[in-house]
Amino acid sequence: MIEQEMDFENRIVSPEYNYTEDEAELSLRPKSLNEYIGQDKVKENLSIYIKAALGRHESLDHVLLYGPPGLGKTTLSGIIAKEMGVNLRVTSGPAIEKQGDLVAILTSLNEGDVLFIDEIHRLSRNVEEILYPAMEDFSLDIILGKGPSARSIRLDVPHFTLVGATTRSGQLTAPLRDRFGVLLRLELYSPEDLAKIITRSAGILGIEIERDGALEIASRSRGTPRIANRLLKRVRDIAQVEFDGDITEKVARAALARFEIDELGLDDFDRKMLSTIITNYQGGPVGLDTLAAAVGEESVTIEDVYEPYLMQIGFLTRTARGRCVTALAYDHLGIPRSGQSTAQQSIF
Ligand code: ADE
Repeated sequence: MIEQEMDFENRIVSPEYNYTEDEAELSLRPKSLNEYIGQDKVKENLSIYIKAALGRHESLDHVLLYGPPGLGKTTLSGIIAKEMGVNLRVTSGPAIEKQGDLVAILTSLNEGDVLFIDEIHRLSRNVEEILYPAMEDFSLDIILGKGPSARSIRLDVPHFTLVGATTRSGQLTAPLRDRFGVLLRLELYSPEDLAKIITRSAGILGIEIERDGALEIASRSRGTPRIANRLLKRVRDIAQVEFDGDITEKVARAALARFEIDELGLDDFDRKMLSTIITNYQGGPVGLDTLAAAVGEESVTIEDVYEPYLMQIGFLTRTARGRCVTALAYDHLGIPRSGQSTAQQSIF
């Protein structure tokens, strides 16, 4: 059995927002679509929709952004507001507890404003029901009183654009998903795009970095700008204290080795998860909940945070019967393939 004392909160390659670590990220966020690197399809489509709405002097249709954490959903909502020339209001599904919270937000918006709701799949049903007529007709149906004397009144709210963000569109209820006119899926970034983001961030932070140094960090950032920017700052510390301050390929490699992040961006947790599947379940298939219990992490975190990258690099597959580790992962971990289950051997 694997020990379970991993320190998830401080995991350097976590794609999730870390308030203390990532606050400086705000200054690194691009403010316009032109500055935004990567996600070319998303940018192209958004740019057309924004131009069209501006041309018609209308607010932009509601936008749903979905994809793994750390890819720039909040950043994009800021860019949408800026390009449309309106204000941005930011909130999240869990922060809106009661219908009244949402009514207060909606009635305080100005015409055309962008309302960003992060983790929109976590809105309660009650609150969602307020959102339907607001999204569709820009009106609110409010019930006053209780029992036989209850009355319903209809309130108009300004035309606004709801930008919702979620890690998986499948987590949304159908009536909510159907009310978004624009659905945009964010993909993990290529190392080349991440190297451009790292070089841009280094410029803003006054860090000297060589192209190969940026590429080295990029290739270990799990396709995620938030991780890339965090690694850049940690590598800078090592460059400053142990080298002459500039980030070269050699400096980046030395720093990343110290953080125990391997050539593919895997850390201790990834390696433990993969080796647990191999040693305890002969390489799989193993059910998500069983795996979660074995490694001491929540199923949704494994699914949304760890798995997308491991699947992208071809180390893990999801099958109807559970998770399977692939031959590539065995080779990467240096584990001979003899211990696989028969179900596993058939896919090599
Ligand atoms: N910083 C974080 N994400 C970025 C992106 N997509 N483009 C430019 N800078 C970024």
